[in-house]
Amino acid sequence: MKILLLGKNGQVGWELQRSLAPLGRLTALDRHSTHYCGDLANLEGIADTVRRLQPDIIVNAAAHTAVDRAESEPELAHTLNALAPGVLATEAARLGAWLVHYSTDYVFDGGGSQPWRESDATGPLSVYGRSKLEGEQRIQAACAKHLIFRTSWVYAARGGNFAKTMLRLAKERDKLTVINDQFGAPTGAELLADVTALALRSATATPALAGLYHLAAAGETSWHGYAQYVLAHAQRAGVVLQAGPDAVATVPATDFPTIAQRPYNSRLDTHKLQAAFGLTLPDWQIGVARMLNETLTP
Ligand SMILES: NC(=O)c1ccc[n+]([C@@H]2O[C@H](COP(=O)([O-])OP(=O)(O)OC[C@H]3O[C@@H](n4cnc5c(N)ncnc54)[C@H](OP(=O)(O)O)[C@@H]3O)[C@@H](O)[C@H]2O)c1
Repeated sequence: MKILLLGKNGQVGWELQRSLAPLGRLTALDRHSTHYCGDLANLEGIADTVRRLQPDIIVNAAAHTAVDRAESEPELAHTLNALAPGVLATEAARLGAWLVHYSTDYVFDGGGSQPWRESDATGPLSVYGRSKLEGEQRIQAACAKHLIFRTSWVYAARGGNFAKTMLRLAKERDKLTVINDQFGAPTGAELLADVTALALRSATATPALAGLYHLAAAGETSWHGYAQYVLAHAQRAGVVLQAGPDAVATVPATDFPTIAQRPYNSRLDTHKLQAAFGLTLPDWQIGVARMLNETLTP
């Protein structure tokens, strides 16, 4: 099995390098790769990469993920998040290959409080959300053998993340202020990568499993609840903080205006994925605790 991974150094891409390796011979690229083009802005280049490599599976973990910046560079966001997935889908279909792609709860308008199902009507609020939705649609139109995973609130141990920022601030200040009216489930890049490999294993054996799935850790919280969990966990591990979990004040999202509008409701209903692939998605606290333990280990 030949596998092509694009976006190998992003949060999810990095973990995919690990989880996809046992499935076959992996060629992992980023936008700076030289022998094969891995730059999603170069549509001819990525088509040429697929034609030369002739993979059985393409996994696209690259994207324009800077949600606020996308508002001022909509053409680039459209190229990376909509046109490039469409090109990969066309090339995958030509080869009879599988295409795996990641999308987002930002395709929804964030209304209500129920977890979004795959069949719910979309209504993106931002350039990023609209570009990601068009990417899904282009894949669905061009390549039947696809797995699209919509996820939310992704973090990884590698690089910066919300939990690390909260820990740093809690060491410097005696009070933090965090949004308490946006809800979702923090989802580890490790979990996304592991589920991707397991789902691919099933889908390559049973092509009827192709489709769009919601994929996030179980449970839900607000950014405020997330911050409190992180600080409580750190204190239990012996980290000295100026601001403990009780020193985290709540604010509405309107107090922290952003260039791009964010959804209030990022909850995703994952029943379809769990039933189709026979998988169990763990509570969000499990992955966050694990990431913190790695981060806090001297
Ligand atoms: N992060 C979240 O909370 C979240 C939530 C829902 C869905 N998702 C989706 O999950 C997927 C993975 O996201 P992530 O969290 O792993 O994001 P990430 O860490 O920002 O990784 C995205 C990767 O894409 C690369 N990239 C940017 N422009 C590129 C280009 N022109 N050509 C090739 N690669 C390019 C980036 O490279 P550079 O580092 O060089 O820029 C980066 O390595 C994306 O499809 C994203 O839309 C993410």
